[in-house]
Amino acid sequence: MHWDQRFAGEDYVFGTEPAQALVKLEPYLVSGGETLVVADGEGRNSTFLAERGYKVLATDYAENGIRKAKALATSRGVTLEHRLEDIFETDWAARQYDNVVAVFIQFVPPSALRGVLRGLRTALKPGGTLILHGYTPGQVGRGTGGPSDPAHMYTPELLREVYSDMEILVCEDYIAELSEGKGHSGVSELIDFVAKA
Ligand SMILES: C[S@@+](CC[C@H](N)C(=O)[O-])C[C@H]1O[C@@H](n2cnc3c(N)ncnc32)[C@H](O)[C@@H]1O
Repeated sequence: MHWDQRFAGEDYVFGTEPAQALVKLEPYLVSGGETLVVADGEGRNSTFLAERGYKVLATDYAENGIRKAKALATSRGVTLEHRLEDIFETDWAARQYDNVVAVFIQFVPPSALRGVLRGLRTALKPGGTLILHGYTPGQVGRGTGGPSDPAHMYTPELLREVYSDMEILVCEDYIAELSEGKGHSGVSELIDFVAKA
């Protein structure tokens, strides 16, 4: 499995600090709420949210990611739930959360993209907050992170359409320099999205 190989070493591919966008957007979350963090990888974002007092369930399909996420949480002295789960097998209606957080889940192919994006919304309680952070199509070719197919990326238009039944609080594309481990490093074309169910 590609991601298990990528996470096999002892270093943290995206670092151990949270995505800079998540630090910026965290105040929009329902404070201290039950929070689902999907495709969380090695745990930098779920650990940060647990440190901030959220009740976190972090999921990922890579065993090495979950193993290192647990180690990171332990090293920081925080408690959260980790689950090995494939995003394409997730029953989004099974449990509702105050917050759903998806950071750099650009592995989702175009054929499944809308279904997964809607699934994130389905997992929210009324009044819950969705945070989505990723790349825009302009990222392709920069060589600073993300897949090579622009159809995996998000545009403001796509997100406004998919989440037209939500109250959109932030929908901003921008260019910024990232320094998030060796996986995300350099000038990047990004998008932040926050909406309330
Ligand atoms: C670019 S990394 C981002 C990790 C984390 N969100 C972060 O920002 O540090 C993409 C993550 O998606 C996970 N992933 C890929 N395919 C998946 C799938 N089908 N189900 C769940 N997670 C998956 C990988 O294991 C990896 O952790």
